Amino acid sequence: MRKNIVAGNWKMNLGYEEGVSLFSEIVNMVKDEVIGNQEVVVCSPFIHLSSIAKLGASAANVHIGAQNIHQAESGAYTGEVSASQVKSVGAQYVILGHSERRAYFGETDAILAEKLNAALKHGLKPIFCIGETKEERESGRFFEVIKTQLEAGVFHLDQNDFASVVLAYEPVWAIGTGLTASPEQAQEVHAFIRETIAKQYGAEAAESTTILYGGSANPSNASTLFAQKDIDGGLIGGASLKSRDFLEIVKVFN
Ligand code: 13P
Repeated sequence: MRKNIVAGNWKMNLGYEEGVSLFSEIVNMVKDEVIGNQEVVVCSPFIHLSSIAKLGASAANVHIGAQNIHQAESGAYTGEVSASQVKSVGAQYVILGHSERRAYFGETDAILAEKLNAALKHGLKPIFCIGETKEERESGRFFEVIKTQLEAGVFHLDQNDFASVVLAYEPVWAIGTGLTASPEQAQEVHAFIRETIAKQYGAEAAESTTILYGGSANPSNASTLFAQKDIDGGLIGGASLKSRDFLEIVKVFN
């Protein structure tokens, strides 16, 4: 059975102390709520990773992730952080291909394919984001856009490596806008992603892949979104910065 995951993406928010205290609150609140095959992941800025990884070590099913890595092993890349460095502080996950990184930092499918390789090589589980812009949705090209993002960014992996990848469908027009994809719109794309995986890796791989929804998910809409057959949890931005809202979303799977 595939895992259900609720992952928080703090983006570029929270000072050191604020982040550590939010994480402590989250661990205390969710530790008894994360049940069965569910996992909670908190993807913080790099500055918090080492401290929160230590705080989270005792909470089963609560994991830590970064929001980016550089694709190179090490070396003269001022300001960047490598997969092995992230792994060395105790993080298990890394978000890759977020639309903000694609749009503001020029991350192409080819660069993301390299980042994916670096993450897997060092034992980090990627949460790989795909999704269309407003214009791509309105022009009806969204299936094609998503298929290309998968083919160019992910499908070079062999079956074994692909099994470690979590996908996140994040329609760009729904991120931070308060506009959420309707459960039907999201389910339609999630089902398409699963079919596309099945064609590449087979039905069993497709059934075992966790596919998260992201884009203005909150305590009021999470239960109808997560009730969809092919939606296995969420990648939560704004609502992950409030421990109570995040807890409510985690509890949807109880
Ligand atoms: P919001 O939940 O703030 O829309 O952000 C979604 C997101 O980008 C998560 O990665």
